[in-house]
Amino acid sequence: MDERQTLKEYLERYSETGVSALAVAAVIDAIASACIQISRLTADGALSGIVGSACGTNAGGDVQKDLDIRADEIIRCALKTVHVAVLASEEAAEPIVGIPSAKISVAVDPLDGSSNIEVNMTVGTIFSIVPTPDDARGAFRQNGAEQIAAGFVVYGPQTSLVLTFGEGVDIFALDRFDDEFKLVRRGVRIPTAAAEFAINGSNRRHWDPAIGIFVDQCLSGTDGPLGKDFNMRWIGSLVAETYRILMRGGVFLYPGDARPGYADGRLRLVYEAHPIAFIIEQAGGAASTGRMRILDLASETLHQRVPLVMGSIDEVRCVEQLYAAPELAARTNAPLFAHRGFFRV
Ligand code: F6P
Repeated sequence: MDERQTLKEYLERYSETGVSALAVAAVIDAIASACIQISRLTADGALSGIVGSACGTNAGGDVQKDLDIRADEIIRCALKTVHVAVLASEEAAEPIVGIPSAKISVAVDPLDGSSNIEVNMTVGTIFSIVPTPDDARGAFRQNGAEQIAAGFVVYGPQTSLVLTFGEGVDIFALDRFDDEFKLVRRGVRIPTAAAEFAINGSNRRHWDPAIGIFVDQCLSGTDGPLGKDFNMRWIGSLVAETYRILMRGGVFLYPGDARPGYADGRLRLVYEAHPIAFIIEQAGGAASTGRMRILDLASETLHQRVPLVMGSIDEVRCVEQLYAAPELAARTNAPLFAHRGFFRV
């Protein structure tokens, strides 16, 4: 028998730390149970009627697949059993009011990476737990730094839950035999320097100069200013990219670009960038728009997009420096800038 600590035991301990901790633990327990159901659906695919077919568009204008809708229903249903003031979901145009007096509110992306559903690749669920302000309508207009807890579940070869309460990042794996998450890694740390970058290179012609220059620097490897060879990955699923970065470092970029509707990139601040940034920072990495820290941003609208550059701190700072000094960036190929380390922090 596996003696690892279960998520329930872990949450029980956490819930002893205060009254609001009890409510937060109950919410995470409910989300985890919902994610076990979603994990089964993703694993069974067509056997449980999930084929990845498009069913419409959501409030943010993204195509909605069958699993997006099922995952949203499952999460909503699970959160009805606990005390949540307001729930924001990628799949709902407006926030859903629960128990107005509840001290916490929840934002969720029920199914992240949904273009991966029909091709049997990794998808996930992302959540963010915030304090409910006096006027609950402002729940999702707070800075990301106000988050109480955040996490995501990856439905990959293994189903894993990544969790932070603002004191480091712990990872749980789903034990399919007894349907429980069990603690497998405590205090995950991201290496400060990366040797992998992730970006959708098909948008290259639409990028800001800073992003193009950074990617060129990565591609120029040991001959370029970063002085090392990089590998490249693009999974098309934010949760999978984040999990990889937590395991072995790297930098992920979804910048704003010149395509219509993409001035602020593709990712949503409230239920994607905020929780992912919280986790990444808690693991010793950095998360930025390229110009400012993601956790210092507050959303003006529920489905607001934001450019995201996150991962190993050295590479994120490097992108920020390229944004801050475009005149240097424009001269990157001049001999002065072509030696190792110029852009390093
Ligand atoms: O939120 C949407 C998402 O699916 C992310 O998980 C992923 O990083 C991104 O979109 C992929 O976008 P694109 O299809 O433009 O590469």
